[in-house]
Amino acid sequence: MGDPDAADPASVPAWRWMDHPEWRPVRGGPPFHVEASYLLLNDNLLDLSHVAYVHAGSIGTGNVADFPILSERGEDFVRMSRMVEDSPPPPLYGRMGGFEGNVDRWQVAVSTLPAYNTVHAGCAPPGTGGADAPDGTKVEFFNLNAMTPETETTTHYFYAHARSFALDDPAMDESFRVDFRRVFGEDISILGAQQANIDRQPDAFSIDINVDGPGLAFRRMLARRIEEEGDVR
Ligand SMILES: [Fe+2]
Repeated sequence: MGDPDAADPASVPAWRWMDHPEWRPVRGGPPFHVEASYLLLNDNLLDLSHVAYVHAGSIGTGNVADFPILSERGEDFVRMSRMVEDSPPPPLYGRMGGFEGNVDRWQVAVSTLPAYNTVHAGCAPPGTGGADAPDGTKVEFFNLNAMTPETETTTHYFYAHARSFALDDPAMDESFRVDFRRVFGEDISILGAQQANIDRQPDAFSIDINVDGPGLAFRRMLARRIEEEGDVR
């Protein structure tokens, strides 16, 4: 976007998981073209209770929204975290980890100005420390997202994953490549419908609930940054 000469490579986030011997990266394939604002995509990634409704067949379980979130704010980022304790694993993670019983499942989403998002997610046997559970017992990955605005209401969605388990398993590479592309296709349908609704009734009121807190905080932070920078077009 914008003038290439104005880009500052030093401000690109260091997503070390993409180039680290203890993590296995899987690129997401060609970027999705999303018929929705990058802001809606960011809202979606900061409200991961949506997995219960949008991804019931893969990474969702019905009780995710029953567990509270913690919302934290830094100078240029917002972090949402949630631990879903002692619950059945979502179908996809259950398959990946071969879990036989319940798991603790964590979701930590961090959005950083202007439009970067990482989701650290996974499952481990209950009470074993979540992401700190011993290697070989857990499903753990980072989902890395770079939402690049094309217009105010369309987005090029670049993404990738990196996992800390089954590092040399090509079948697992394939699962990350194919299964997550299907999962994200579900988000993209919903986001397109959401944008179409907003376009149809731009002045309609919206109702904010608790889980919208991180998304709203990030939008405020971003609006402030845009105002500070002024019109750079
Ligand atoms: Fe989703």
